[in-house]
Amino acid sequence: MTKGPVLILGARSDIALAAAHRFAKAGHPVQLAARDSAALQSDAADIRLRFGVAASVQEYDALGDVAAFVDALPVLPEIAICAVGLMGTQAENQTDHARAVTVLRSNFEGPALVLAELANRFATRGSGTLVGVSSVAGLRGRASNYVYGAAKAGFTAFLSGLRNRLAEQGVHVVTVLPGFVDTKMTEGMDLPPRLTAQPDEVAEAIFRAIGKRRDVIYVKPIWRVIMTVIRAIPEPVFKKMKI
Ligand SMILES: NC(=O)c1ccc[n+]([C@@H]2O[C@H](COP(=O)([O-])OP(=O)(O)OC[C@H]3O[C@@H](n4cnc5c(N)ncnc54)[C@H](OP(=O)(O)O)[C@@H]3O)[C@@H](O)[C@H]2O)c1
Repeated sequence: MTKGPVLILGARSDIALAAAHRFAKAGHPVQLAARDSAALQSDAADIRLRFGVAASVQEYDALGDVAAFVDALPVLPEIAICAVGLMGTQAENQTDHARAVTVLRSNFEGPALVLAELANRFATRGSGTLVGVSSVAGLRGRASNYVYGAAKAGFTAFLSGLRNRLAEQGVHVVTVLPGFVDTKMTEGMDLPPRLTAQPDEVAEAIFRAIGKRRDVIYVKPIWRVIMTVIRAIPEPVFKKMKI
C-alpha cells in the first residue's frame, strides 16, 4: 500500500530529522521544510538513497507567509510534524523585548498558524494527522524559562483546541511533550541522563503515537509523573521554589 507523504516543519532540528528518517524507513515520502533549505539537500539525498522513498526540500519560514507556503507544497501531506522552536536564554528573554517577541512567535504563533492552515485543508479532505512538538515547560511557568514555556503553553492549548474541533472530521492531532532531549537546543546543558531522550526516541514515540491514535504523549513516561507533582504544588509554595 502507498504510504502518504509526511511534511516535516523545522526540518533542520535534530528531532525533526530523526522523525524524517523514521517515517522514510516505514516507506513514507518526506517533505523537508526549513529556513536555509539548501542545506537540507544532502539530507534529502541521503534519505532517498537509504530508504528508497521520495524526499523533497521546501523553503519555509515559520514567521513568514505560511498560507502561501502551504499553497505552494507540491502535494498536500497526509501527516505534518511541526518541530519549530526557539528557546533562547531566560536572562535574555526577560530583558530584551525583541528577543522575547521572537521566542513567543517562534514557539506559538508560527507553529500554530501553519498547523491551522494545514488543518483547514485536511478537514476539507477529511483525513490527515497533525503533530505538534510542544514542551512540558508549557505545563507550569517557572522562573528559569517562562517566556519559552508560556509560548509552548499557548501552542499546547492550540493543539488541544484543534484536536477537539477536528475529532469528528477525520483529522487526528498529536501533542508531543518530550521532556529533555539531547539536541542542538540543549547543547552544553547538564541534563540528567534518565530524564533525557535522544532524538530517535522522540521520533519513535511520534511514529507509534500516530499508529495508536494517541492524543498527548510524553516521550519518557517519568515526565508525566514529574509534571503531575509539579502541577500539584500549591502556588504559595511553588513561588518560593527554584526549579
Ligand atoms: N531539546 C529539548 O530538550 C526539547 C524539549 C522539549 C521540546 N523541544 C522542542 O522540540 C522542537 C525541536 O527542537 P530541537 O531540540 O530539535 O532543537 P533545534 O535543533 O534548535 O530545532 C528547532 C528548529 O526550529 C527551527 N526554527 C526556529 N525558528 C524558525 C522559523 N522562524 N522558521 C523555520 N524554522 C524555525 C530551527 O531552524 P534553524 O535550523 O533554521 O535555526 C531549528 O531547526 C522544538 O519545538 C523544541 O522547542 C525540545
